[in-house]
Amino acid sequence: MSQTDKSAPNIESVLHEARVFPPPKAFARGAHLKSLAQYRQLYRESIQAPERFWGRQAKDELVWFRPWKKVLRWNEPFAKWFVGGRLNVCYNCLDRHLGTPTANRAALVWEGEPAAPGKPGEERVLTYQQLHREVCQFANVLKRNGIAKGDRVIIYLPMVPEAAIAMLACARIGAVHSVVFGGFSAQSVADRICDSQAKLVITADGGFRRGSVVQLKKNVDEALGLRDASGDRLAKSVQRVIVLRRAGNDIHIEEDRDVWWHRELEYVGAHCPAAQLESEHPLFILYTSGSTGKPKGVLHTTAGYLLAARMTTRYVFDLRETDVYWCTADVGWVTGHSYVVYGPLANGTTSLMYEGAPNFPEPDRFWRIVEKYGVTVLYTAPTAIRAFMKWGEDWPRKHDLSSLRLLGTVGEPINPEAWIWYHRVIGAKRCPIVDTWWQTETGNIMITPLPGATPTKPGSATLPFFGVLPEVVDDQGNPVPRGTGGKLVIRRPWPSMLRGIWGDPQRYREVYWSEIKHSYFTGDGCRQDPDGYFWIVGRIDDVLNVAGHRIGTAEVESALVSNSKVAEAAVVGRPDELKGQALVAFVTLKTDVHATPELRGELRDHVAKEIGPVAKPDDIRFAEALPKTRSGKIMRRLLKQIAAGTEIKGDTTTLEDFSVLARLSQAEE
Ligand code: PRX
Repeated sequence: MSQTDKSAPNIESVLHEARVFPPPKAFARGAHLKSLAQYRQLYRESIQAPERFWGRQAKDELVWFRPWKKVLRWNEPFAKWFVGGRLNVCYNCLDRHLGTPTANRAALVWEGEPAAPGKPGEERVLTYQQLHREVCQFANVLKRNGIAKGDRVIIYLPMVPEAAIAMLACARIGAVHSVVFGGFSAQSVADRICDSQAKLVITADGGFRRGSVVQLKKNVDEALGLRDASGDRLAKSVQRVIVLRRAGNDIHIEEDRDVWWHRELEYVGAHCPAAQLESEHPLFILYTSGSTGKPKGVLHTTAGYLLAARMTTRYVFDLRETDVYWCTADVGWVTGHSYVVYGPLANGTTSLMYEGAPNFPEPDRFWRIVEKYGVTVLYTAPTAIRAFMKWGEDWPRKHDLSSLRLLGTVGEPINPEAWIWYHRVIGAKRCPIVDTWWQTETGNIMITPLPGATPTKPGSATLPFFGVLPEVVDDQGNPVPRGTGGKLVIRRPWPSMLRGIWGDPQRYREVYWSEIKHSYFTGDGCRQDPDGYFWIVGRIDDVLNVAGHRIGTAEVESALVSNSKVAEAAVVGRPDELKGQALVAFVTLKTDVHATPELRGELRDHVAKEIGPVAKPDDIRFAEALPKTRSGKIMRRLLKQIAAGTEIKGDTTTLEDFSVLARLSQAEE
């Protein structure tokens, strides 16, 4: 993988680099960490004496059934943290709060999607006590349906409290959940079932999205019937489907296989002891896109993940007892796992869940919710912020946002303009902003300001969290001078690191630990400024970040060529003002197939069917042939330039001829 122009500093960032926002004094006064010196001291210790540091944290932060014997066993690239210990994630999120004042605090505040303008959404509040009861009951439902420790369970639900309940119930009995985002297709569900060999699927009849119903159960039915090339059913490991009544739409119920969530509850009690699990017991598998092949099942385990989830949530969001904390991510993504469910609950915080879109029924949906519940901490994606900017300041101005005290962003680089708008319009220049860099694989936040301590710069994720040793290096793994672009690597194991790719240790080694010796390669380009602040530039591999969603170009390409009309496809990213990156597909067609606007629509739908609506190309450009090197490799760099530089007008369906370009480029080689 060669370094690309993406690692070069971006002019806009350089211009803003000089702007520093110190932590507001009023904020720092009550913060967990009050100065940069305090942060540096703790950070230094976490790097110089990691085992002492993490051992102390694990003891102070978590409830153990049995203490660990060794903090870290590192056999590169395989880590075992807190070896010999036993604990339970669900116990640490719920039971530990029972019998304390937190028991009666709201654990989840849920707002459903409103039916129409002016109509309130449904709402539901579950205290820790109530959530504990519901989780225990549902854990008993899982057992009743044949699920035991170590079994894999697919969760394919809308953003409703039951999604969190299902995750926690799995954790309680040691079942391994794999949440699949509701925007993924039947094919994607089937692939994930097949790879994880899941025994059970938990789904809903439907979910609401912008006023229409997403047919989740129908997708599951289809997934369970899909076959591979040799005619084998992909999802034959599934024995049961538990269906939540949510949208009230008509669905098919398969006798002997499908059961209703509410019916099952009638057969179980509310007593279910939490399983005493090994520190390294698998907690969840989450599938994410890489540069090649099908999505990888990223595996996270119990103790290290939980410790980092609890610590990062408390330090990064500087949690206080009065907080109403809202992370707007869907539980289908890692952000929803760590910062809607596990992190906030492990801290006894009130976590708000919202089912719908930011602009339905109107573009002030978020601000209405902030006002209604008195949200104090808001954590969202740069894409959402850019959309808010586009919709205009009048929408937030209609609401009282004075409860907010801290803002966060995640998922993609935030451009300084969006940062400054967020700070001024939403945060009234009063709220610090934490721009948090991390990945599905890292499990928890890795590079981030700590709001009472770290001066921020718009567009920079600033400095590493405790125990995290990031470095910017060249292709050989040598650190590059500050101000120079390079590859972002992590030099040390950390507690919440992925433990592997489900069922594929070799791929784990190759993808993450082979690019740069003795280091975890993130796939991101980055540079450090003279103050040591990290500026993430974005992916330098063939992974795109479209509206904060991670999409593998190879996956979209194979979805396209699986259409009988397509001969070849190459997918690249193009800068997009709103979504960060847009997805452009260059497609050559089989002989006698004509390029038409209808075909473009058909191919976009085909990708939605194969992967899910999230992966639909923004543009499809038909070509006579794709530009290739003499050895037959597609010249992606050239395609990127073409995608970025040429304006695409309306629905013209011209066939592009790259032969000249390819010849020119070869001559330059
Ligand atoms: O490119 C980085 C970008 O998102 C990628 C990880 O995507 P995913 O595994 O889906 O996790 C997203 C939520 C943690 C990274 O490799 N990314 C994430 N956060 C930031 C970011 N890029 C710049 N700044 C961030 N704060």
